[in-house]
Amino acid sequence: MQNLTVIDHPLVQHKLTIMRCKDTSTASFRRLLEEIAHLLCYEVTRDLEVDMIEVDTPMGPTMAPSLKGKKLVFASILRAGNGLLSGMLDLVPSARVAHIGLYRDPETLQPVEYYFKAPTDIEDRLVIVVDPMLATANSAVAAIEKLKERGANNIRFLCLLAAPEGVERFIAAHPDVPIFTAALDERIDEHGYIVPGLGDAGDRMYGTR
Ligand code: PRP
Ligand code: URA
Repeated sequence: MQNLTVIDHPLVQHKLTIMRCKDTSTASFRRLLEEIAHLLCYEVTRDLEVDMIEVDTPMGPTMAPSLKGKKLVFASILRAGNGLLSGMLDLVPSARVAHIGLYRDPETLQPVEYYFKAPTDIEDRLVIVVDPMLATANSAVAAIEKLKERGANNIRFLCLLAAPEGVERFIAAHPDVPIFTAALDERIDEHGYIVPGLGDAGDRMYGTR
């Protein structure tokens, strides 16, 4: 699918398989999500531009690459986005962070917003939106609309699992935003859950129901 990158690295796929298993504990689920976030972060930032800068090594001066432009923004869709966020920040500790509080109404599957806080100058920065699940895409589409209203114009979306229906809706709503995912699953069920999926990501991360 156009605009969709599936990160099929064997380590990502192995860890994802353990996360899918219903017997995996809350502690393991959280740790695996953080570990996968490291690997996904590596891929979603693979083509970032660099400038050559002068540095003095103990052996003398040289030119070496350094990330170009302003610091990245990681935008986490609460709650479950925070599981990916934490691993992403391990790799890019200087990133700025936006929090977008949304939950899905279980009846309508429409997102309900309860919090939004983002850096003021996001128009000058690459914004990477993180949420483990892209099901109907209602949450991701709303979060990105909000970021665009605030001026973001260079956005990528990173998730763990995506459903084909959600990808289609996402691309129709935000054709300018590339999607990176660890897997494209079969479908969503009548309750809006990804099949085979991994269940409710937020509940599995935090041990709630
Ligand atoms: C989950 C998930 C996404 C959303 C995906 O969050 O983390 O934000 O559902 O579904 P969608 O693509 O159909 O919108 P949820 O609303 O369960 O909130 P939580 O993270 O607080 O558990
Ligand atoms: N949100 C989740 O946490 N899991 C799904 O399968 C769909 C939406």
